[in-house]
Formats: sequence, C-alpha cells, structure tokens
Amino acid sequence: MQKKVRVGIIGCGAIAERLHVPDYHACSYAELVAFCDIEEAKATALAKQFAPGARVYKDYRKMFKDGGIDAVSVCTPNVYHGPVTFEAIKSGCHVLVEKPMATSLEEAKKMIGMAKEAGVLLMVNQSQRRFPAHRKAKEVVESGILGKILHVTAMFGHAGPEEWSPTGKWFFDKKEARFGAMADLGVHKADLIRYLTGKEVAEICAFITRVEKTGATVEDNFVSALKFTDGTVGTLSSSWTVKGMEADYIILHCENGSLQVGINPEKPVVANLIKPKCDIVFPLPEPFSNVSWGIDIGGAFVRAILGMEPPFCTGEEGMKALEIVLSAEKSALTGKAVKLSHK
Ligand SMILES: NC(=O)c1ccc[n+]([C@@H]2O[C@H](COP(=O)([O-])OP(=O)(O)OC[C@H]3O[C@@H](n4cnc5c(N)ncnc54)[C@H](O)[C@@H]3O)[C@@H](O)[C@H]2O)c1
Repeated sequence: MQKKVRVGIIGCGAIAERLHVPDYHACSYAELVAFCDIEEAKATALAKQFAPGARVYKDYRKMFKDGGIDAVSVCTPNVYHGPVTFEAIKSGCHVLVEKPMATSLEEAKKMIGMAKEAGVLLMVNQSQRRFPAHRKAKEVVESGILGKILHVTAMFGHAGPEEWSPTGKWFFDKKEARFGAMADLGVHKADLIRYLTGKEVAEICAFITRVEKTGATVEDNFVSALKFTDGTVGTLSSSWTVKGMEADYIILHCENGSLQVGINPEKPVVANLIKPKCDIVFPLPEPFSNVSWGIDIGGAFVRAILGMEPPFCTGEEGMKALEIVLSAEKSALTGKAVKLSHK
C-alpha cells in the first residue's frame, strides 16, 4: 500500500482553511500531521476540524525540529514565504509555497537552488492554472483555431483583502506583505499570461498607485504595458478597488478572432471567430475534485511528490511570474520601462 505523505501546514489563515487543508484532508495519499500558526488558536481550530490528534505549533522551527513531516504548505504572509521554505527544505520537506513565492529574485533563486540540492520538490501555488476555465482556454489555444496571438489583456480586481481575510491586516502593511494589489492579484495574471500564451515578457512599463486604502503602506492599484519577446504587446492590471462584481479575466486577440476568458460569468470561455464568423461557447472541463474550488492544489502537490503527475507550477515558473511584478514595480518607481533579465 502507498505510504501516506505526512503534511504540515504553516500559517492557518484563510487560504489554508479554504484550500490547502480541505484538499489534503480529501486526498487519500496525504495525512495532515501538524499545524503551525503564531496565533496558536488558529492552528488548534484547524487541527480539531480536520485532523484531531495532529500536532499544533506556534513556531515553525520547533515543528521542523520535532520532525515526522514529509511536506508542507507555506500559507503565511508573503515576507515569511522564503524564510519558512528555507527551514522546510533544510529539514528535508517538500514545499508548496503560496504566491507570490518570495519577495525578491535572490530569495526565489535560493529557494529553488536549495530544493534542487536537497532533492525535494518546490511548487508554487499559482492556483489560477488549475481553474477549469483556464484549463479549457489552454486547450483552445493549443488546438490552433485562434491562430497567432497578437495582443493580450489581463486584469484581476476585487474590493480588497478585507472581505477575504478579515483578520489579515498584514495585506496592507509593506513590512509583511512587501507588495499590494500588484503582486497579490497581478502575479496571478502575470503567471496566467505566460501559462496560456507561452509568451515571455521582454519589457514592462508600469504605474502603481494608492487611491483608496488610505491606511495602507502598499499600492491598491496597478497597471502595466508589456512587450513580449516575439514583439507583440499586452496589458496587465490589478486592483483592490473594484466594487461589485470581481474583474478576473484575460482576453487573447488573435489572427482568427478573440478568446474571452472570465468576461461573462454565463460563458466563462468564449471564442469570437471571423472565419467562419461564429461564437463558440466552450463547455468547462470537470473540476479536479469536489472540495474547495474544484482545483485540488493539495492533492496535485502530493501526487507530484509521489511522481503520479507533473507539478502544476515549479519554483522556476513561480519565479518568472515574480520577475514580472518586480520589474513592474521597478518601472513604476523609476518612471522608465524595464527589461527583464530572464536569468
Ligand atoms: N493562491 C491563491 O489563490 C491565494 C489566495 C489568497 C491568499 N493567498 C496567499 O496565501 C498567503 C496567506 O494568505 P491568507 O489570505 O491565508 O492570509 P491570512 O492572514 O488569512 O492567514 C495568514 C496566517 O499566517 C499566520 N502567520 C503569520 N506569520 C506567521 C509565522 N511566522 N508562522 C506561522 N504562521 C504565521 C497568521 O497568524 C495567519 O493566521 C499569502 O501569501 C497570500 O498571498 C493565495
């Protein structure tokens, strides 16, 4: 019988509770064995609900010292992603780290290098890759019916992290978040653009602003113009001040028409073709599981550890999305277009 992967959770807030933990709980190859949060009550509550008997910690270093863990999800505020991952790798654990994977390219490179050296898997939860609409969009792009992609526009906006995580005050504090809307939401679309189109960003020109979250020390709005290595262009934006319905879309304008993904909730993936002139509304693939958002990131991580499927987002891929937002920030701060190094 397959030995179960013993999983620990570090950071027991909104994303752990809504996505990672239910996924591991539903995965027959995983066993939740430890929960850690600086607010111990949160770790205790998750353990009680999903894995009574699991160990509970306030300090992740103590958790690693005690051992008995094969893999962890790092679900802390952004600035701890790197330091927690370093400790996890040192103790021989596979790591699924939340997005943005790190707060600098140096940190991301160190995470990747250490994981390679230790022979453990490092994955980044660029969760949008797993959404049914995005899987279908990738299939449509790869089918070739759209022809060459000539222009890309992507946007992710909602009213801010307040509703998502009412206790997550850190989102607004540069010391713990490092970035605001630009990386919190923009990194999802930076990754999705690469994932769907296969294009690499060559150069970026961006603006970041804070227009409403007055107590915050990070930006609440971000807009950028991208030039890809193939000479085509696109836009990438994100916002924490989108009221009412979320804006969570990508549009690919192509030789043979356009593919709209996430514009119309009734038709999440629709192609508007010119030859023959028609609209194609694509049915979505089945969700990956019946837990969380049907994207089963925890199960996918565990199966990748066991070699049952490829990782849906490696450390290297996560770093490329991070490089896009870091370059955008540099552009916004210097007022100049920034070329990406791709190193
Ligand atoms: N992939 C996605 O779709 C997605 C969605 C939302 C959030 N996220 C990411 O997940 C991460 C967590 O976000 P969240 O919404 O769960 O925030 P949250 O504030 O709800 O939860 C974070 C938890 O980490 C705990 N914590 C803080 N420092 C810690 C430390 N040093 N050790 C252990 N625990 C610590 C906090 O007490 C809190 O319970 C962020 O990086 C965020 O960008 C990803």
